[in-house]
Amino acid sequence: MSAQAKTAVRERPPQTEGAREEARRVREMQPDDTSVLVRSLTRRFGRFTAVDEISLGVKRGEIFGFLGANGAGKTTAIRMLCGLLKPSEGEAWVGSLPVSRKPEAVKRNISYMSQKFSLYDDLTVQENLTFYGGVYGLRNGQIRDRSAQLIEQLGLKDAGDNLTGSLPLGLKQRLALGSAALHRPPILFLDEPTSGVDPVARRDFWDLIYTLAEEGSTIFVTTHYMEEAEYCDRVSIMVRGRIVALGSPAELKDETGANTMQDVFLETVKA
Ligand SMILES: Nc1ncnc2c1ncn2[C@@H]1O[C@H](COP(=O)(O)OP(=O)(O)O)[C@@H](O)[C@H]1O
Ligand SMILES: [Mg+2]
Repeated sequence: MSAQAKTAVRERPPQTEGAREEARRVREMQPDDTSVLVRSLTRRFGRFTAVDEISLGVKRGEIFGFLGANGAGKTTAIRMLCGLLKPSEGEAWVGSLPVSRKPEAVKRNISYMSQKFSLYDDLTVQENLTFYGGVYGLRNGQIRDRSAQLIEQLGLKDAGDNLTGSLPLGLKQRLALGSAALHRPPILFLDEPTSGVDPVARRDFWDLIYTLAEEGSTIFVTTHYMEEAEYCDRVSIMVRGRIVALGSPAELKDETGANTMQDVFLETVKA
């Protein structure tokens, strides 16, 4: 029985032509040509399908926005791409490596900023960066230079000696991003990095994301703030585990006749 037939029992939201076109495109694409290549990736928990045959390809240096409401399946998908959770079906390549066969090699090629970030509250900002530099195998001199640069870029100059636990959420998010970007990973997976902070702090955070992309990292970022889609090269919109729309913000507005990404989202969800 095909994957299609197995999941057909639950009503699936319809896809835009752009999302269907991407699914066709990734069948032809070679892992070597991409940063992230996902073909019909599915994850079930018991009888519940959390990620439903998603397909997408991300180019090197692209900022790809993985959008969806809470519970859509974003974190489940990202955990499969990072080699932390086994897919039920389908295939994914990250940095041209097959994730299910080479999860450890994939982990060396990427960085993952989880929704709960993994910072030590009882270490200072500088100590957290030094710790992660060690985890990523940087030498002492590299850790010193890179963390000094990041502290500057992240606007954490006055907070270097502060305990991480005492920082406001916005600064913690910046530090978590800095820790994830310390070793200049080719691919950065950011799971809701801007969740819970005000729009100004979110805008500043996106400037950092651009800086990292300009330095050569591919960015795969999830968010449930639809206006943040405007900052991405291309985005997908996920509804109940399924990618219902995919394209550049301009293409998606065109396709749905909406003026804002918020309206694009409402159009695709209601379809
Ligand atoms: N380990 C798990 N066991 C059972 N259900 C899960 C598990 N992890 C996630 N889910 C369910 O899968 C759905 C998608 O969750 P998640 O990927 O965290 O969504 P998002 O990150 O978009 O908010 C939710 O309904 C969630 O409850
Ligand atoms: Mg999530």
